[in-house]
Amino acid sequence: MEIQMWREILEPYALAVDELKVKFEHVQNSYRNAGLYSPIEQIYGRVKSISSLLEKVQKKHISLDDIEDNIDDIAGIRIICQFVEDIYKVVELIGKRSDMIVIEEQDYVKNRKASGYRSYHMVVKYVVETINGPKELHVEIQIRTLAMNFWATIEHSLQYKYKQNMPASLRARLLKAADAIGVLDSEMAEVREEIMDAQNTFTLRSNLVADILNNIQNLYKAANKREIIKIQDEFFKIYASEDLEHLERFAKELDTISEGYRAQSLR
Ligand code: GTP
Ligand code: MG
Repeated sequence: MEIQMWREILEPYALAVDELKVKFEHVQNSYRNAGLYSPIEQIYGRVKSISSLLEKVQKKHISLDDIEDNIDDIAGIRIICQFVEDIYKVVELIGKRSDMIVIEEQDYVKNRKASGYRSYHMVVKYVVETINGPKELHVEIQIRTLAMNFWATIEHSLQYKYKQNMPASLRARLLKAADAIGVLDSEMAEVREEIMDAQNTFTLRSNLVADILNNIQNLYKAANKREIIKIQDEFFKIYASEDLEHLERFAKELDTISEGYRAQSLR
């Protein structure tokens, strides 16, 4: 293969990376717009540089013409989560999608590598549309927590610095750090429930408020002003008290009142 072909070969992979980044960003937005906690915290994507590709070709002893069949991470997506549990949510979510087919999975979260590395790896089949028609290609997706990402980033720089000659003392340090990262992620898992609870309470409250305001607005068409003002004042009082159960009761009462007016107007 001629060197000038590289750019053409990499083009569909760049498209896949761009598309997948947008898609995962939309997943994140869908959760957030629904007032829900998003299992995806950050998304990164990259196409492997030509020099790293050449390095891998040499290391794996493959022909330049076979790189597309033998190298799965020409296109790479990295999804960063806050908590370990979120990783498995994202894995499930990817497994259910119709626009990518999982062909390989490695759970280095549960089975950490000898280096101390932890991450969930997936290779998916993905189709992009090119000027020559549809093209199926492989994309590697790495899913890890913020803490795992911190460790992997540091370790990767050190690996790069020392190549095969990392001092044993540094290796041992990194393993200790990997243990600490594991402990940190477990501690954070305990806090996760609290964060989810807060998020759900927030969603429940904002949905209730939306319902109440909607009902009050409709009442303007049917009820008399004095009654509406009384209802509004009561709402503000309950809203300020931050008593969620009281707000729920009030929303139900208001529903009943609204139903009554609706029944009248249908007559
Ligand atoms: P290749 O995909 O050919 O590299 O071999 P493989 O399939 O055995 O690799 P693996 O799935 O274990 O790892 C693929 C990618 O994960 C690498 O390109 C890195 O980005 C990342 N990775 C794997 N092991 C380590 C590690 O020990 N440290 C760091 N920092 N990253 C790692
Ligand atoms: Mg691999």
